Amino acid sequence: MSQRIAVLSEHGPYEVVIGCGGLRTVGDVIPSVTAADRFLLVVDQAVAATHGAVVQASLGQDRVAGTVEIIAEERLKQMQAVEMLWDSALAAGLDRSSAIISVGGGLTGDVAGFAAATYMRGIDYVQIPTTLLAMVDASIGGKTGVNLAIPKSDRLGKNLAGAFWAPKMVLVDPETLETLPVRELRSGLAECVKHGVIADHGLLELISSRASLLVSGDVDAVLELLPRSIDVKRDVVQADERERGCRMLLNFGHTFAHAIEPIEELDLTHGEAVSIGMCAAAWCACRVGLYAQSDAEALVALLESLGLPTVLPQTVPIDSLCLAMRYDKKVSGDRMRLVLPTHDAAVVRDDVSQQDVHAAWSRVMPVAG
Ligand SMILES: NC(=O)c1ccc[n+]([C@@H]2O[C@H](COP(=O)([O-])OP(=O)(O)OC[C@H]3O[C@@H](n4cnc5c(N)ncnc54)[C@H](O)[C@@H]3O)[C@@H](O)[C@H]2O)c1
Repeated sequence: MSQRIAVLSEHGPYEVVIGCGGLRTVGDVIPSVTAADRFLLVVDQAVAATHGAVVQASLGQDRVAGTVEIIAEERLKQMQAVEMLWDSALAAGLDRSSAIISVGGGLTGDVAGFAAATYMRGIDYVQIPTTLLAMVDASIGGKTGVNLAIPKSDRLGKNLAGAFWAPKMVLVDPETLETLPVRELRSGLAECVKHGVIADHGLLELISSRASLLVSGDVDAVLELLPRSIDVKRDVVQADERERGCRMLLNFGHTFAHAIEPIEELDLTHGEAVSIGMCAAAWCACRVGLYAQSDAEALVALLESLGLPTVLPQTVPIDSLCLAMRYDKKVSGDRMRLVLPTHDAAVVRDDVSQQDVHAAWSRVMPVAG
């Protein structure tokens, strides 16, 4: 039995279909969401032999015009990856009545989605997320894109080029999480915590009460979590698809996270960076009087119960982090625009000073000795 969550978007409505074994049904369900009969499969290399093969078999040889494997590494999430997909689409003979299907995590979905948004000015796209993070977050809301190299630095700016392009369907098969490393599962839980903080405190209670089951990938607990967390993302993106208002709330923790995620020595997953970023934002909110110390401590404790980091693994010069934040597209003018938690939800503040940001970073630095 599958659960269906309807999402409205400027490109038309689509459904998030959640169900165990869904991967094996792709070939049957796809005609109901797209008229395309030829597909480019864009598959995360890590799941090509497993979940990718199941999707390929379900679609059948006649419909798969080509398959491209993506190496899911942030340093490779750049325009060259999209160009490679354009070239593969051309070589496979894809035209405007063809479609792209992605099978993988958020990185694969972002790159494949951007290729779909731009190939021949836009072709149909179906997302099959295989990480928890992609299931509850990255695959919903139509954001696609790649990182850009920051001028005169060896850094990448996260998702600085991209497009809004809604999928025709998001197919979520929790069984794909069986192969997901626990570290990646935890990273997905960080985004679920984010959804709880900004919009659904009941979701936080659910995560807290099922923490050990969720970390072990218990399918029943995951099936309980998925619709609840997806609902938050759906509600926010439906209210503000183009991020002119409340969608910014989804950036809770992300402006901090984007400064640390590209630092290779830190070796942080996206979700781990978001976990530390949410802590920094929480400490920042305490400093400006929006959040109680006890609320921040409770958030840190919840993240720790999920095995997520709440401080950086090593010290990083704070000035360099503040500088990196300035390249984030969520920064405007001299003052920083940050999403900060309150006891009940979260708010967007346009007036956060450099000193407050600096102080927040100092709270997530490891204690010396
Ligand atoms: N578009 C959006 O709205 C949005 C939202 C959040 C994050 N993102 C983006 O998503 C990316 C993070 O997504 P992610 O956490 O899914 O990371 P990811 O796509 O990099 O995948 C994480 C790791 O898990 C592996 N993997 C994926 N599925 C697997 C499976 N079932 N079994 C075994 N290994 C598997 C991948 O190969 C990779 O090593 C970032 O690039 C981030 O910018 C986009």
